[in-house]
Order: sequence, then structure tokens, then C-alpha cells
Amino acid sequence: MADHDTNGSTPETATLSIGERSAVFPILKGNLGPDVIDIRKLTADTQMFSFDPGYGETASCRSAITFIDGDEGVLLHRGYPIEQLATEASFTETAYLLVYGELPTREDYERFQQDLKEQALLHEQIRNFFNGFRRDAHPMAILCGTVAALSAFYPDAVDISHEASRDLSTRRLIAKVPTIAAWAYKYTVGEPFVYPDNNLSFSENFLKMLFAKPNAEYKVNPVLARAIDRILILHADHEQNASTSTVRLVGSTGSNPFACIAAGIAALWGPAHGGANEAVLGMLAQIGTRENIPSFIAQVKDRESGVRLMGFGHRVYKNFDPRAKIMEQTYHEVVAELGLKHDPMFDLAAELEKIAVNDPYFVQRRLYPNVDFYSGLILKAMGIPTSMFTVLFAVARTVGWVSQWREMIEEPGQRIGRPRQLYVGEARRDYIPQCRRS
Ligand code: CMC
Repeated sequence: MADHDTNGSTPETATLSIGERSAVFPILKGNLGPDVIDIRKLTADTQMFSFDPGYGETASCRSAITFIDGDEGVLLHRGYPIEQLATEASFTETAYLLVYGELPTREDYERFQQDLKEQALLHEQIRNFFNGFRRDAHPMAILCGTVAALSAFYPDAVDISHEASRDLSTRRLIAKVPTIAAWAYKYTVGEPFVYPDNNLSFSENFLKMLFAKPNAEYKVNPVLARAIDRILILHADHEQNASTSTVRLVGSTGSNPFACIAAGIAALWGPAHGGANEAVLGMLAQIGTRENIPSFIAQVKDRESGVRLMGFGHRVYKNFDPRAKIMEQTYHEVVAELGLKHDPMFDLAAELEKIAVNDPYFVQRRLYPNVDFYSGLILKAMGIPTSMFTVLFAVARTVGWVSQWREMIEEPGQRIGRPRQLYVGEARRDYIPQCRRS
């Protein structure tokens, strides 16, 4: 319990009573958001560990990159609201901000963009890796494997103790992941790889690498490029989520940054995390028509069924996800630009949302649409195949991962991440030879 001063000011310490004993812990104050109880001496003082499966109650690090207020639906990157970045900034500007902490000057920005362009090319040997994958391989499998393999091409990256080396790895990763991502797609559809084009912006180039073919001119649609840019901004970082925590944990062992980001990609792949937008489309296809919504909702509410309303709920946002609103707006812009007939899947999603946000099950549990509820529909409208949705998320999140990795490495007194456990297995027992086992 926090120790309140008699004058009512914020307490400096918290006291934990265990039977007759008590232990006092400092309270640390951040700039925004809840204070934290510093339990680093918990075991020394009490001979006990804290128990927090899923780490929902645990601040695992200090960070100055991203702030989320889940009750108010606030998301700030280095202090700037996501709504402003999504409408005013470009993805590369947001990337610079996340990595270096400040918006770039014109000169810094130009140098950063130029560096990313130069680094977007892959070593020609990397082409050979793709042939080792089956044509029907999931592009996330190709991305994960190939990003890990970059470690073999840049042995200098192992030197994480020098800032210049970390900086070079940062730029290599932000620039090369989109090329690998686009090639993973090209490989699975049997089309030739498209090399990066230095005349284009980050998102224009990514679209071109995805969709251009040698037998036809490809003109980048600026509205679609802007939509991709915005989607990338919305997914760029999200404080200590599962994949970012994975990157930090792997990075805490001193692993090279390519291995760390490959681990982040693996964590992102799961349907509870980055795989959710792909899962939303699967769910909508399964529901099929409006008439089936009530029976689907009944299934979701039945805990035994194990079915979840994908694209709904968030560990942190308990009111609304600010990214979801921008996503929905972007969907309408894309549909208008492409002159698409209204997608019945969108109507189904909108109807599903309307029913769910008014249903006591979802209201009581504070489950609202998250960023992924509409992102899949936008990507589908743009012709991006479902299997590439999480890959696109990884392209964006690479920026957040490298920013968080750098912050961790630069933290004074950084140590390996090593949680403990509540052991519930057998107590010590003696080995029994096989012939005596019944
Ligand atoms: N559909 C139905 N029930 C849900 C859902 C859902 N999508 N999400 C949570 N619940 C229920 C859950 O069953 C539990 O109910 P009860 O209290 O009766 O046991 C309660 O709400 C709390 O759920 P929880 O699992 O403790 O919540 P969590 O914070 O561990 O999970 C989540 C967060 C995002 C994994 C979860 O909401 C979920 O599985 N959502 C669907 C997948 C999804 O859309 N993921 C994308 C997240 S946003 C992008 C990203 O950050 O990667």
C-alpha cells in the first residue's frame, strides 16, 4: 500500500506487510501516467518474488519513446499525438522522431532519407535465400528467416557497443525490411523481384516493389502511397507490447540487432498480436452475412467456444484505440480514390461493430475496435493479399523495435532480462531405472 503523507502529497514509498514483517519500497514517478513501485529489492527484503503472468502489472523498463493512456485513448510518440503525426508527418519523419527523439531539421531529414534509399538494396547473395523456400511459404516465415540471415552479411553489427555501429544497423534494418517484405510477396506469387527505386519516397517505393511488373509501366497512386504511409505511421511503435518486449529481452543478452528484430517478427506473427488484421478478414468471411452476426456473437460470448471477436479488445486501450478512428477514415479515402463499389465486408464489419459496442458483454469488459479491425479492409481494398498484412505491420514496427532496442542498450546499468517463476512441479525425487517403472 502507498504511504500517504499526512499533508496529502504524493507518497514517496509503499509499504508491503507480510504477517508481522513489513518492507518499504520507493515509488518512482514518470512524466505522464501512473507512478510505479520499485520492487527491485523485493526478494532481498522479503525472500519472495512478485507473480504477474502476462506482465500486465509490470513496468519492465524506463522509456521515453511512446506514451499510451488506455482510458483516454491517447497515444504519443516522443510527446507528439498520433493524430498529428498521421495527418501531418511522413513515415520516415516519424521514424526519425522515434529513433532519435526529435523531429528532424530539413537537413537531417534529407540525409536520413538518402541513407535509407542507399541501404534499401539487398546484398545480391540474399536473393539466393528465397529459392530455398517453398512457393507457398507464408511471407512472414520468409521475412523472419531472411532478417535473421542479415546477421551473416553484416558481422560488424555484432559490435553493439559503438553508437555508430548501432546507427548503421538501425538504418540498414529500416531500409532493408521493406525490400525483403516485398520480395517475400513476389516470390510467393512467382513474379520477378523489383529493385528499390531511389526516386521514390519510402511508401511509394514499397508499393512499387510490391506491384510493379517488368511488362507494364507502374505509376504509383499518391492517395494509395499516402494511405500506406499512414498505416505505417499508425503501426510504428506501441510501447512495451509482446513483440517489442521480445526484442528487448533478446537484445538484453547482447544479441546482434538483426537477430533481435527477427525475434520481434516471430512474436508479431501470432493472431493475438500482429496477425489480428489477417484474422479479422477470416472472421468476416466466416460470418458471411448480417443474419449470421447474432449466432457468431453468441459463440464469442460462450467462453467454452474459444472464439474471439478479432480486431476487438486491447490490453491497454479500455475506451477506444485512437488508431482505429484514423484507420476507418483512411478506408473511406482509399475506397473513394479507387472508385470501388462498397465492399459488403465493410458493411458487415460496421454492423458487427455496432452490435458489439452496444452489447453488455463487450461494454462490461471494455472491449472496443482496435487498430486491426479496419486495417485489413483497407489493405484488401488496395489489393494487398491477406498473407502480407502482418508483414506490412512488421515493416512499420521495425522502426519501433530498433528505437526501443537502442534505448535499452543505452540505458546505464542495463542487465539481461530474466524473470522468475512460481514452481508448481514435483518436489525432489530419485531417478527410477526403466526396468523398475510400471
Ligand atoms: N472477443 C471476446 N472476448 C474478449 C476479447 C475478444 N476479442 N478480448 C478479450 N475478451 C474477454 C476475455 O475473454 C476476458 O473475459 P473474462 O473476463 O470473462 O474472462 C476479458 O475480455 C479480458 O480479456 P483478456 O484476455 O484478459 O485481455 P487481454 O488484455 O489479455 O487481451 C487481446 C488483449 C488484444 C489479446 C484480446 O483482447 C484479444 O484477443 N483480442 C482479439 C485479437 C486482436 O484483435 N488483437 C489485436 C490487438 S491490437 C494490435 C496489436 O497490438 O498487436
